[in-house]
Amino acid sequence: MDKKALFAQAAEVLQENDRGTYTVPTKGLYPFQWNWDSCLTPLGQAQISAPRAWTEIETLFAHQWEDGMMPHIVFHVHDEGYFPGANVWRTQGCGGAGRGKIDTSGITQPAVAGFAVKRLFDRAKDKSLALKHAKSLLPKINRWHEWFYRDRDPAGEGLVAIIHPWEAGRDNSIDWDEPFSKVPTDGIDPYVRRDLKHADASMRPTKEQYDRYLWLVQHFRDLKWDNSKLHDASPFRVVDPGFNAILIRSCFDLADLADAIGEKEIADKNRAWAKKGIAALERLWSDKHGQYLCLDRVTGKLIDSADCGGLLPVFAGVPKPRVRAIAQRIEKISQQVKYIVPTHDPSDPRFDAKRYWRGPIWLIINYMIADGLRTAGETAVADKIVKSSLALIDSGGFAEYYDPRDGTACGGARFTWTAAMVLEFLRYV
Ligand code: GLC
Repeated sequence: MDKKALFAQAAEVLQENDRGTYTVPTKGLYPFQWNWDSCLTPLGQAQISAPRAWTEIETLFAHQWEDGMMPHIVFHVHDEGYFPGANVWRTQGCGGAGRGKIDTSGITQPAVAGFAVKRLFDRAKDKSLALKHAKSLLPKINRWHEWFYRDRDPAGEGLVAIIHPWEAGRDNSIDWDEPFSKVPTDGIDPYVRRDLKHADASMRPTKEQYDRYLWLVQHFRDLKWDNSKLHDASPFRVVDPGFNAILIRSCFDLADLADAIGEKEIADKNRAWAKKGIAALERLWSDKHGQYLCLDRVTGKLIDSADCGGLLPVFAGVPKPRVRAIAQRIEKISQQVKYIVPTHDPSDPRFDAKRYWRGPIWLIINYMIADGLRTAGETAVADKIVKSSLALIDSGGFAEYYDPRDGTACGGARFTWTAAMVLEFLRYV
């Protein structure tokens, strides 16, 4: 592998998708700013330009709702090529959305900002620039965390629920099949999908799933996006170990960052949330699967689906024996497919190697799992994941995601966060 050439190619993808103050995930399919894309991408951007990396996150947080919620999409421009657009979400004025007249969606995404900002801060060469941005972002990220534990964990269980599959970032995961089947489809406005213009239908969610996605959006819209009501009013409430792991890791990291800049109250609060979350995650452990599972908060039952969300708690800092078990599980999976880590257990009959979040590999998931394993001392498996991730670039270029059996590129091409993760993985080889 020519590291220098790979670095240059990845930098080119970032450049291509750079819209000045934010980056689009890829042109065509995703023409706006996405939340967790814009928190992970700066890790790569910072290796080229630190100011540009900070701008990416600052731009995102300029659109935080007054109630603390961070939307999953910021619609900076008008683009008819994307559905559902701002005219479907209609969040203007709700929860304090739409300040500065830029529309946003009404749901959130994995809270990876705390982790990303701490990492940028720790690595910064220009300490005073980093301090300036960390000070400005710290209270905003803290407000988002506060919002999560207030509005998405109203009973104080220590874990938050997602109320729409898109919030998990793993839009079409097998994890949602069962709880999602209870979401109605009646009364939705007629619509035309746009994703199928950019990607193959066999790799995207089905029509029935799309109907349900939209039913939930309309339901929340009818409730005027009032976050104090949405959790209890949603027929879909899932406690996802992956989503919670990312939030917990961000709480730990924000606490450390707050300590470093003398914000004791923020540090204490975030550390308390994180510790409570780690303890509560135990409830989601499955001995049978050797990993964590989702909990359906509507039925109170664990969901029988061995997905990558259940491997992600290694990123949160769960106890060593749990990390060991997950490392072993990944070893086992690596004997079933050529590349790792597939988003779903390949031995599950529902596994679908090319369909969106039902089997293929995403490099951002690999990055977080590898980071958690490395921190816990599971270096051999972490290295294996890094190697596999870079081999995928050789086989399929900077794709949105990959078939774990043969490395075929799937979904959109020239993908921003894939390129950013390559810049990160190159640090370990
Ligand atoms: C898809 C993914 C989501 C991501 C977005 C932009 O919707 O499921 O996680 O943020 O694309 O890349």
